[in-house]
Amino acid sequence: MADDDSRQGVRYADAAIVAWVDGLHARLDPALKLAFEAPTSLGLPAIQVGPSEGRLLGLFCQLAGVKKAVEVGTLAGFSALHIARALPADGHLWTIEIEPAHAAAAEVNLAAAGLSGRATVVLGSGQAALPGLEAHGPFDLVFIDADKEGYDFYGRWAARNLRPGGLLIADNAYLFGHLLDDSPVAAAVRRLHEEAALAFDTVCIPTPDGLLLGIKK
Ligand code: DHB
Ligand code: MG
Repeated sequence: MADDDSRQGVRYADAAIVAWVDGLHARLDPALKLAFEAPTSLGLPAIQVGPSEGRLLGLFCQLAGVKKAVEVGTLAGFSALHIARALPADGHLWTIEIEPAHAAAAEVNLAAAGLSGRATVVLGSGQAALPGLEAHGPFDLVFIDADKEGYDFYGRWAARNLRPGGLLIADNAYLFGHLLDDSPVAAAVRRLHEEAALAFDTVCIPTPDGLLLGIKK
């Protein structure tokens, strides 16, 4: 193994290695499997976070003692299930989903996991639904995984509605490889990065599409 920076950018994680470590550390139990496979079985877009990223969300919740969480972009509830499971019995997740079919699938999957009482699926766009959640705050976690055009709005909302020490996490922080494009959506995601870097202690975790993590100052 090189002992200098020459290994930067080299990928050691081939498919067999990822399958082996995921099988050990991020195994999908029946409820997680149902939520993970729901998009495919229901003909919805299969754009949920990967098994390791889902697990990472749950572990971050445990590390930070997250009790009240907001998710923007539920899809079929795979990440919601990881977050809700990591909350204490008196904790709660509000998860926002704009597509009624996705929200309905998430309700089913959360119920199958026994988590209906700990999670509320809020139907609507992030921009429409977030103001209505403010009375439940301040929050311990905001996880953003919705329309990328809204990422800067969601990040600003998180900065206002997280407690100091609360976590901001955003999926697709590399914007599918288009973060540096000259486009409105790329500008919005770059603004999320830039504004988060001021209000949070931040890092962009190099998952396949980047996972921005911030701890509110
Ligand atoms: C898409 C959205 C996501 O959040 C993701 O992780 C992958 C793809 C999409 O809209 O295509
Ligand atoms: Mg995503």
